[in-house]
Amino acid sequence: MTSTILRVLPSSSASDFGFTFADASIPPRSEPISTLRVAFHSNEAEQHLQQAAAHLRDGELVAFPTETVYGLGACALHADAARKIYDAKNRPADNPLIVHVSDRDMLERLVEKDAINPAMDALITAFWPGPLTLLFPVRTKKGKPIVPTAVTCGQTTVGIRMPSHPIARALISLANVPIAAPSANASGRPSPTSAAHVFTDLGHSGKLRYIVDGGACTVGVESTVVDATAPGQVCVLRPGGVSVEAIGDVLKQRQLLAAPDAPSQGQAHLLVYGKDMARSAQQELAPTTPGMKYRHYSPQASVILVRCEQGDNVPSVASFMQHIAAQPNARIGVLCAIDSPLFVALKRIAHPQRALAMWAAQCEANAKRTSPLVSYDQSQLCIYSLGTSANAAMAAQRLFDGLRVLDADIVWDDKQQTCDVILVEAVGEAGVGLAVMNRVQKAATETVVVGC
Ligand code: TXA
Ligand code: MG
Repeated sequence: MTSTILRVLPSSSASDFGFTFADASIPPRSEPISTLRVAFHSNEAEQHLQQAAAHLRDGELVAFPTETVYGLGACALHADAARKIYDAKNRPADNPLIVHVSDRDMLERLVEKDAINPAMDALITAFWPGPLTLLFPVRTKKGKPIVPTAVTCGQTTVGIRMPSHPIARALISLANVPIAAPSANASGRPSPTSAAHVFTDLGHSGKLRYIVDGGACTVGVESTVVDATAPGQVCVLRPGGVSVEAIGDVLKQRQLLAAPDAPSQGQAHLLVYGKDMARSAQQELAPTTPGMKYRHYSPQASVILVRCEQGDNVPSVASFMQHIAAQPNARIGVLCAIDSPLFVALKRIAHPQRALAMWAAQCEANAKRTSPLVSYDQSQLCIYSLGTSANAAMAAQRLFDGLRVLDADIVWDDKQQTCDVILVEAVGEAGVGLAVMNRVQKAATETVVVGC
């Protein structure tokens, strides 16, 4: 069985997927209303989403778009359905899944009302539906957890989010069950931000019947995972689509943010794992710190993180490139902004002269994200544009696509489509840039500092 792609693409306007929500506006912002109802005005959208929803209700897998990345979904209330996710992705059995809900009613069936403390309530109100996952204590009924241990891997908490992508919310609402879904990549690969990425990884596995195609994801990196269950602490376990700064602003507005050195006294300290909270070897051996234990986001090519710094004690871009290009006919992919220090340096040294400058002048207008092939020394180079360096959201949206395109989609001069090494230039860590750097650091096997 090869996966079937069910198209639910936007029609006349970017947000018209062939249905509307009664009582709720389509994002960018809508409230986490109590009950979501879907009203179709396109037969194709209705047929495809109903087919996918019925498959989910039958305990089977469906891949679907969210605003962050595509998810590989299964009913979150049935252990056998959830187990199919681990099998299809080849996911380690101790890495818990996030549960997706369409509305507040669905959340309240999974979580005790009094488990939602003021900090969690503030974050839900501000960021749901949207790219934020919150941990909640697992609720039990007659001594058994409502969300089976196949989903939580026996953790005492369950991660839940309400995605803002209209297709994700409509699908969950039609299935009328919460949906467990990790990113829909094969384990260890870059997360998928299009239906084609999902198809590449899982389309021929024989384990995934349907992929709902809703176009490219807008956020492009996964949700921010926050643990606010302990009083006095809001811990960002994984940076993602909601920035740490935005979380701080909301807590501050609601007078829930404790000053860094002050005692918490009913307020909470905002802590970022790996920054304010020291990295813990013990925690990293357990799977509970998202994305810490396992190899992540890796294309076939090796990935090198390149930091450009000013100074005399670091090698120049030219000498670094000479080292990389030492192997004859090396195929080198570069992921960077088109106004970045690395790009400016490559423009100067790549041949033919001016080829990169001409591409950069019109690549955004022509939606041409990859450069023509250029050469340096005996190697070939292809650049994938992450946009301009001031635009961290664009870098986030393009990161995983860039890794996948450079890894497998470029036809090099020798007609090969594989790439030897991908250089990714560091971006600023403000806003969603923190999530971008977090993913790049995990994908990279090496970090190199060069002088620009
Ligand atoms: O944006 C997203 O979050 C996407 C879309 C599909 O919603 N999903 C996603 O799932 O990124 P996944 O499985 O690739 O990453 C979820 C991370 C995992 O690293 C897991 O370890 C962590 O969240 N996680 C899940 N439940 C947890 C829990 N109870 N405690 C700590 N970490 C948890
Ligand atoms: Mg993932």
